[in-house]
Order: sequence, then structure tokens, then C-alpha cells
Amino acid sequence: MATALNTRLCELLGCEYPIIQTAMGWIADPTLVASTCNAGAFGFLAGAVMTPQEVEDGIKEIKSKTDKPFGVNFHMYTPGANEIIDICIKHKVRAVSYSRSPAKSMIQKLKDANIVCIPTVGALKHAVKAVEMGADAVVVQGGEGGGHTGAVASNILLPQVVDALDVPVIAAGGFKDGRGLISALSFGAEGIAMGTRFLMTKESPVPATTKEKYIGASTEQIIVSTKLDGMPQRMINNPYLKQLHSKTGLGILLLAIKNGLEFSKGALIPMLMSAWKMKKANGMTLGQTMMAGNAPVMIQEAMVKGHPDQGVLPSGQIAGAIKDLPKGADLIASIVAEASETLARLNRLSGNVTSAEQKNNPSVAEI
Ligand SMILES: Cc1cc2nc3c(=O)[nH]c(=O)nc-3n(C[C@H](O)[C@H](O)[C@H](O)COP(=O)(O)O)c2cc1C
Repeated sequence: MATALNTRLCELLGCEYPIIQTAMGWIADPTLVASTCNAGAFGFLAGAVMTPQEVEDGIKEIKSKTDKPFGVNFHMYTPGANEIIDICIKHKVRAVSYSRSPAKSMIQKLKDANIVCIPTVGALKHAVKAVEMGADAVVVQGGEGGGHTGAVASNILLPQVVDALDVPVIAAGGFKDGRGLISALSFGAEGIAMGTRFLMTKESPVPATTKEKYIGASTEQIIVSTKLDGMPQRMINNPYLKQLHSKTGLGILLLAIKNGLEFSKGALIPMLMSAWKMKKANGMTLGQTMMAGNAPVMIQEAMVKGHPDQGVLPSGQIAGAIKDLPKGADLIASIVAEASETLARLNRLSGNVTSAEQKNNPSVAEI
């Protein structure tokens, strides 16, 4: 049946609802992805922080837990990106997501294998470029979003991108519920993509001590900083980030060396050497480059090892408005229910349908 919630995105991805669980490094694991897909939404495996072998094992595990379609996230600049593409083709993965666009030939190879290509962009010009490169749909992330993020808020960026593109646009950054889904659809988007909301569910593998910090964070505490790896990244302002902000020049270098010794034992010398090479290429100081090289380790310290004050907590601002950890299936059901109620309310407001009519025939809400 054609309803407001059954958009082109559902057809493209083969899911029931226009809701995407985005990839989050070390978080979007096979259990989270399978539970999302089983509940009617669409999940992406966090392949960007995995080896090709781990991606293949992850795909097999997802398939053992669901027969629904799902996707894989990767970064073209990670070692093994070509192998990951071949694995996605071999296992007939439905979609891939990526941030920086792979070469056109890589995208064509995926499209020739009927794999849907969905980049995430944070600016209008990048959205236009992504479609020129072959994207089938585009996730547009407003600055509210978690992890690496742009400067423009969803409310402003989303309609600009919708107006500029013909492919389905998916809104990301600051979504958590059915009202948000309807607001995105009203801007002309064909679905929403959420990271932080899925991080804060029962199935997410993030340790309880770290989840508590997300539950306790206020919206104002979730800030954007370039101190971690030189790029704007939205995170919860915790003791580690405060320490990073209090340092400059030599202080950053010493902190990076201390982190290297403490958290990535054995890897300090190779890290120093690659930081030295990168420093020459990107113009950052040695300390900043080492800090960037160390960022994945610091994220894992919080998100995998469960030491939220010593590590990094990437987060969307929306965490400040989330106070529960529901099961993924309950979350998706509540988003769909609230979206339908919102549509019904708008219908009543516009005088199209009376409450009595709606009570007798709930499907009249489905405009
Ligand atoms: C903890 C965390 C880790 C993330 N890791 C990745 C990643 O590995 N790859 C990626 O493309 N995006 C990553 N992101 C961005 C999300 O996929 C998504 O675009 C963003 O969370 C959407 O905004 P929201 O948090 O307001 O829902 C991450 C976000 C968070 C919060």
C-alpha cells in the first residue's frame, strides 16, 4: 500500500520503513545490524574500521541472524578497500555507504553488481558531486550529527540538497523519533539515518559505563572540536577532550606520546614514523599528526574498553535529548507509531479528516 512512510528509499533498499541505522566504528556490529533489519529498518555494518576478513566474517554473521537486506560502510582510503568491494559483490550486499567518494571506476563496479551506493555528505556541493560520481541516493548530515560533521544545520542544509538532486535524499544529524521523521519527509527527504540513537539501544555493544555518559550528557556538552584529528568532529566534552583543549604545541606532542605508550603499546615507533611522513604531506604539527593517528585507539578506549573519561565519545547533539536505551525493535516500532500519529494530527488540523473518521478507519492517516 502507498503510504507516506513507503518512500523510494524503501524500494531501493528493500526495507519496510525509511529508517537507516548508520555505520559507527566498533558499534555497528552484526548484532546491531541484524536487529535493525529484522525490525523493518536498514542497517550498515561498520566496515571502515575492519579488515577485509573481518568484513567478510561480519557479513556471514549478519546473514546467520537475518534474511533481510543490509549494507556495509567502507572508506576508500583504508587499506583493503578494493578487497572489501569484491567481498560486498561476492555476498550480494544490498548497499554500501562511504564518506569520501571512491573513484568513479569503483562506484561503477558496485553499480554493475546492483549494489546501491549511498555516500554521506555534509555540504551542498559535495551532494551534487556525489551524484555526478554515481550515487543512487545521498545521506545529508547536518552539523548536529555525531562523529565527523559539517557546519550547516539539518534544517538549512536538507531542503537545499533536496532541491538540487533528483535521487532520494536521506536526512541525518539530530534525528531520534517519529516527529523528526515526518519533519524530514516534509522537507522532501525520503527517510532518516541515525547513528547516536542506535548507539543508545540495548543491542549496541558499547559498554554500560560508556552508555551512562551518553544518557547523562546535556545537549550543550556535545561540542565540535578539530583537536582530535584536525577535522571537525562532534563529541561529548569529557575529561580527555578538556585535557586536549588545554594543550598547544609541545603539550599536544607530549600527550600524543603518552597516549601512544599507554594505549597502543608496541605501536609507538611505527606511529611516530608514519606521523612524520603524514606531517610532511598535510602541514599539521608532529603532535597533531600523532594525535590524529592515535584517534582510533582513543575512541576504542571509551567505546570498546568502557573507559569513557580516558577516551573519546563521538556523539550527535541528539544524545542530550535521549534518556533511554530501548531495544532496537521497540525503537523502530515507536518511531513508526509516532510518525503515523503525527500525520493523523496534521490531517485533522488541515480539516481533511475528523477524529471519528480516523477512529473508524485508521488508514486515513496514511496520506
Ligand atoms: C560513535 C560514532 C561513530 C561513528 N563512526 C562512523 C563511521 O565509522 N563511518 C561513518 O561513515 N560515519 C560514522 N559516524 C557518523 C554516523 O554514521 C552518522 O552519520 C551520524 O551519527 C548521524 O548523526 P546522529 O548521530 O545525529 O544520528 C559515527 C558517529 C558516531 C556517533
